[in-house]
Amino acid sequence: MPAGHILALDQGTTSTRAILFRTPELTPVAVAQQEFRQHYPASGWVEHEAEDLWDSALAVMREAIARAGLRPQDIAGIGIANQRETTLLWDRRSGRAIHRAIVWQDRRTAGICAALREAGHAAAVAASTGLLIDPYFSATKLTWLLDHVAGAREAAERGDLAFGTVDSFLLWRLTGGRVHATDATNAARTMLFDIRAGRWDPAMCALHRVPMALLPEVRDCAAEFGLAEPGLLGAAIPVRGIAGDQQAATLGQACFRPGMLKSTYGTGCFALLNTGPVPVASRHRLLTTIAYQLGGERSYALEGAIFVAGAAVQWLRDGLGLIRDAAESGALAAAADPAQRLYLVPAFVGLGVPHWDAEARGAIHGLTRASGPGDFARAALESVGYQTRDLLIAMQADLAEALPATDPDAATGGEGSILRVDGGMVASDWTMQFLADILGAPVDRPVVRETTALGAAYLAGLQSGLCPAPAEFAAAWRLDRRFTPAMLQAEREAAYAGWQRAVRRTLSDYP
Ligand code: G3P
Repeated sequence: MPAGHILALDQGTTSTRAILFRTPELTPVAVAQQEFRQHYPASGWVEHEAEDLWDSALAVMREAIARAGLRPQDIAGIGIANQRETTLLWDRRSGRAIHRAIVWQDRRTAGICAALREAGHAAAVAASTGLLIDPYFSATKLTWLLDHVAGAREAAERGDLAFGTVDSFLLWRLTGGRVHATDATNAARTMLFDIRAGRWDPAMCALHRVPMALLPEVRDCAAEFGLAEPGLLGAAIPVRGIAGDQQAATLGQACFRPGMLKSTYGTGCFALLNTGPVPVASRHRLLTTIAYQLGGERSYALEGAIFVAGAAVQWLRDGLGLIRDAAESGALAAAADPAQRLYLVPAFVGLGVPHWDAEARGAIHGLTRASGPGDFARAALESVGYQTRDLLIAMQADLAEALPATDPDAATGGEGSILRVDGGMVASDWTMQFLADILGAPVDRPVVRETTALGAAYLAGLQSGLCPAPAEFAAAWRLDRRFTPAMLQAEREAAYAGWQRAVRRTLSDYP
C-alpha cells in the first residue's frame, strides 16, 4: 500500500482539532486544536456561532499542515468527523447562517417534542428514523429556526436556504458553495432520514414541516465529497470521508463486527454497539442508528447517549473551581473519604438513555457535614461509570431479545462484554478502574486514543486507496491497558442501587 498523508478534521462540541496522519498505518504527525465560545442565551439553550465553527476548522487545518511541514498538494484527502445533530440553516447565495447553530445539547424544543409524542407520532418516528422524539435531534431544532427567524420559512420554500449538520456546513464552505451533501451517519441523526431505506423520508419531513429543498444529498461515509477551494488550504484537496464523530470513533476503534462495543467519553458519553447489516429496534429506549455506510452497504448500531460525562469534570473546574485542570480530578477523587457516598446526577441538560427526561435538572444526593471537594470529584467521575452501566444494561436486554443466541459474536454485547473506551476522560486511570468495577466487566483502552480523528482519517484513506480494507485495519488495533473489575460484587450492587435511587429522585415526574 503506498505511503501518503490524510488530514482529519474533528469538529467537536467545545473544540475543533485537525490531525495529519501518515498512511497506511495512520500515524499522527501533526495536531492543531482550538476551543471556541459556547453561547447559553436561555436556560437549557446552547448555541454556536457558525463563523466560529468555520474559522476554527480552517485555522486548525492550516496549522496542522504547516506543523507537518507538508505541501498541501501532497495530502491525498480530508476526512471530517463532527459533533452530530447540531443544526445550521444558511443562505445559499451568501453562504452565511441565518441564525447561530442550535447545538445538540439544546432543549428549547422540549415542548414541540412533547406535543409530537402526545399526538401519537413516536412509533412512526422510531420505525423510520430509529430515534426517540427528543430535542436532541435536528428536526425540531430546524422547525424552530423556520418558525422563529423572520422570513426563514418563505425563503426555505423558495429554495434559497440550505440545512445541514456541521459536516454539511463545513463541506459547503470548503467547496466554495459547490457541494451540499452529508453522509448517511449524520443524516441518521436528523429525525428526517429513513435509516432502513437510506433516504430522506417525505413523511418525516411533512411531520416536522420541513421543505425537502433544504436537505443535502446523502452519500457513503467514504466517498468523493468534492474539492476544497485551492485558496483555502493551498491546494484543491479532495474531501473523501465524512462521519458523525461517534460513528467515526466506532470506526477508529475498529468495531466492525456485530457485538463489538465502544464508548467515547467527551463532553457527553456515547456508546455504540455494532449490530451488523440489520437494524435492531430497541425496546429499552436506546437509539437505532447507522454505524457506517461503505460501498452502499449500511451497518447499524444500537446507541446509548449520555449528555454529561466530561462536562461534569468541566463543571468541577469552571463551575465550582475545585480543580484547575481536568487531569487533577482523579487524584482528588482518590483522596475522598471512603465512608462517604455522594451521588451526583448530572442532568444539567436533562437525562438521555434510558430516561429521556428533557426537563430533569442535576442534583446531588447524600450530602453530609463531612462532604468535601474530594467527594464531589469522586461523585462526578463515578456518575460517568453509573450512567455507562445504565446504558449497557439496556443494550444487553435489547441484544438478548433481538440477536440469535447461537451467534457467539453477536452475543457479546452488554455487561458481560469488553468495552473499548476512548475520549479525553479515559486518560484517568481512576475513572477507568471505577468503570470496570461498576460494570463488572473489562474495559480496554487502546494505544491510539484519538479514535474519532483516526476514524475520519481511515474513511478518507480508504477512499484514496491508502488504507486497507476493514479486516486488515482492525488487525492493527493495539491495546494500551485492560482495566479488570476489582470491586466486590456486594459493594458494586449496593453502590449501583444507591445511584438508581438518586436518579429516581431527580426525574422531573418524581412526586
Ligand atoms: O451527539 C453529539 C455528539 O456527536 C457530540 O460529541 O465529542 O462533541 O461531545 P462530542
